[in-house]
Amino acid sequence: MKIYKVLPDLSRERHMKIWHKALRSQWSATDIKWDTPQRITNHRLKDQMGRILTPVLMGEQAALYSVSGLIPILGKLGEVESQFYLTTWAVDEARHTELFANFYGRLDREPMPIRRFPAGYLFQSQIVSDDPAEWLSGVLVSEVIAKKLMEEFRRLDLDPLLSDIAHGVLRDEARHLGFNHIYLEDRFCELHQNTEDQGRAYAEQLHARVDSVLGYLQPMLDALATELDEIGIDRIELFDKVGDEARQRLDRSIRAGHRLAEGKQEASPLAEAALIGA
Ligand SMILES: [Fe+2]
Ligand SMILES: [Fe+2]
Repeated sequence: MKIYKVLPDLSRERHMKIWHKALRSQWSATDIKWDTPQRITNHRLKDQMGRILTPVLMGEQAALYSVSGLIPILGKLGEVESQFYLTTWAVDEARHTELFANFYGRLDREPMPIRRFPAGYLFQSQIVSDDPAEWLSGVLVSEVIAKKLMEEFRRLDLDPLLSDIAHGVLRDEARHLGFNHIYLEDRFCELHQNTEDQGRAYAEQLHARVDSVLGYLQPMLDALATELDEIGIDRIELFDKVGDEARQRLDRSIRAGHRLAEGKQEASPLAEAALIGA
């Protein structure tokens, strides 16, 4: 264990604000009315939903693993405000994991095992990294795909409970994306202040990482082509939109960091951080 200093530095204002916001926004799977009658009663649709929700449940569990893994790393780096925030992010992903695990019970189906869905497992395994900024750029792709799928579930309104879950998860995802922005903005501000070349090289590295993670997303969606088509989710459009939004969000965080370093712009207000790039 390494404690950077006994009295932690808690001066990053936006990090502290988002941490307090996350603390106040907690909710539980027990807040959901699980006895609401199930609208998905058709057997074929139940089977399809069992397969479609597999990458969702896999993603929530993978997020819980990777967020939890970054908590001690941020501590070692002395980034205590970010470490605080990530404890709530881990709680959020644990809650999402529980919600979708419970939803499988309601659906009376099981997710696909890894051997039948290797593309999903490969996609999730790309996101892991011990470098917080590199991890956040990979996570950007999985957070954006989670957000888009939740929006689709709300639009299709297949089951009232799934729509309620999607609504709650979307609120949490907005916070995760907000933190992603402020962390990367600050990181690129620091890098740019060191040397512009360093900032530029790192920006290229993170963009390459987003592209590489996106390369694993397409096979994952292709593996669910029939199911997505039949329930009415256009997977080509979904893939394009996720790619555009993830690249745009990363780009905006990098540019905001550079402008902040040059004194051309104030740090992005927290309320806007989650919306940036959307
Ligand atoms: Fe999640
Ligand atoms: Fe998330």
